[in-house]
Amino acid sequence: MTAPALIPVPRHLEERSGRVLLRGPDQVARSIDPTLPVEGYVLEIRDDAVVIRGGGPAGVFYAVQTLLQLLPPAAAATAHCSLEAALAAAGPVEVPQLLVEDQPEHAWRGFLLDVARHFQPLEVLLRLVDQLAAHKLNVLHLHLTDDQGWRFPVPGYPRLTEVGGWRRESPVGFDHEGDDLKRDGVRHGGWYTRSDLEHLVAYAAERHIAIVPEVDLPGHATAAIAAYPELGNGAHHGAAGVEVRTRWGISTTILNLEDATLAFVDAVLDEVMDIFPGTWIHGGGDEVPKAEWRGSARVQRRKAELGLDDEEQLQGWFTARLADTVRRRGRRLLAWDEVVAGGAPRDTLVMAWRSAAHGVAAIRAGYDVVMSPSETLYLDHRQSLALGEPVTFPGSPVTLADVHAFEPVPAELRPPAAGDGRVVGGQANLWTEYVPTAEHLEYMAFPRLCAFAEAVWRAPAPADGTRDYAGFLGRLEQHLARLAAAGIRYRPLDGTPGGGG
Ligand code: ACM
Repeated sequence: MTAPALIPVPRHLEERSGRVLLRGPDQVARSIDPTLPVEGYVLEIRDDAVVIRGGGPAGVFYAVQTLLQLLPPAAAATAHCSLEAALAAAGPVEVPQLLVEDQPEHAWRGFLLDVARHFQPLEVLLRLVDQLAAHKLNVLHLHLTDDQGWRFPVPGYPRLTEVGGWRRESPVGFDHEGDDLKRDGVRHGGWYTRSDLEHLVAYAAERHIAIVPEVDLPGHATAAIAAYPELGNGAHHGAAGVEVRTRWGISTTILNLEDATLAFVDAVLDEVMDIFPGTWIHGGGDEVPKAEWRGSARVQRRKAELGLDDEEQLQGWFTARLADTVRRRGRRLLAWDEVVAGGAPRDTLVMAWRSAAHGVAAIRAGYDVVMSPSETLYLDHRQSLALGEPVTFPGSPVTLADVHAFEPVPAELRPPAAGDGRVVGGQANLWTEYVPTAEHLEYMAFPRLCAFAEAVWRAPAPADGTRDYAGFLGRLEQHLARLAAAGIRYRPLDGTPGGGG
């Protein structure tokens, strides 16, 4: 008997001899057992019944996802995570008798999709949510705004989508610093309506996934400034103003700090909090070149009024204001690790992206941290050094093995010291400068997300630190049949490059 190929691997699996014929969902008894962790579950397949106990609804849901992995791939592929739909598709089907006792190690098991650089239609996001849920991930972080596009409407600011939702053209191939850059001449854009996003939130919630919205401020805001030049530090933009950015890389264009701009920020956050009910509101804060603030008499006056010494503190003041705005509505600010330098409020959840070391520094400074280190979890990096890989962000490869080896809690934080913040989990990020299509997105995300799901679910590493990568690969081979049945265009394990690049 071959062991069931479960991904992520459960904490405890006991195989039993014999199989049972599953005819319909009535045979599956589902209940809540408050003695279990809310996301934990027990799944017992006996000769007379299938018994599921979950610590909460999420635990019951994860037990069902495990059960779905025991069905023929084609049945689960069309089920959108539902047991009823899967069994209806499978017909009477034999499953192995077993006992699984399972729970996640980390509370935050996230995936970021950048829909600002390349917009993806709602259907693509729904399909992605099904896959995230099947892998027992529980956060979809949507990067909704950036220099190259603004992807949702805000009442009172119609030009955000009318203007900010579109860019004139995009680079072709790798965007290097030369001026001989090829461009496609194709207008690119799109945005989600409020009802699109509400539908996504509800669809994801049914699958125990929180949609975490990000509005990237005060840098990465060129699309907003193109729509409303009065939000920018105009003197630096020249007579033509700025347009929605048509190159990748970091823009020096950032928001000014006028009262009207702060009112704009409040309006944006209010709309975001109306749409997205979850605790965490991501305010960006990464890569904020300060030259425009240094060169602006009005920003310098603001700095003097506030009694601040430098522009880093000014960003700290801006971050604190974001945190206040979301806290007033019972939410909490999440932001990129740069905000630590400006002294972000201690209740800010820090998303450590520049490196795991930046995460460690934030934890030592007392912040709770989501670990999302670019060296291990940036899925915009190439998956191998093979020449045929599609064009990517020019970083070192992030291989399937790298992602599988990811440890959310770095060794130097074990055991935790008094006064330290906590690692709340991990997140894999897919930036889409070089990822224009849904097909390419799937190529970049899978199967690395399968490895990531395992890395954030499994128990802490054994004392010798080794992980069973070979065992994962063995299970993955069968798991790929599930992805294939669902039509996911993953990167094949033999490295045959594909994708839309
Ligand atoms: C980031 O990658 N700039 C968060």
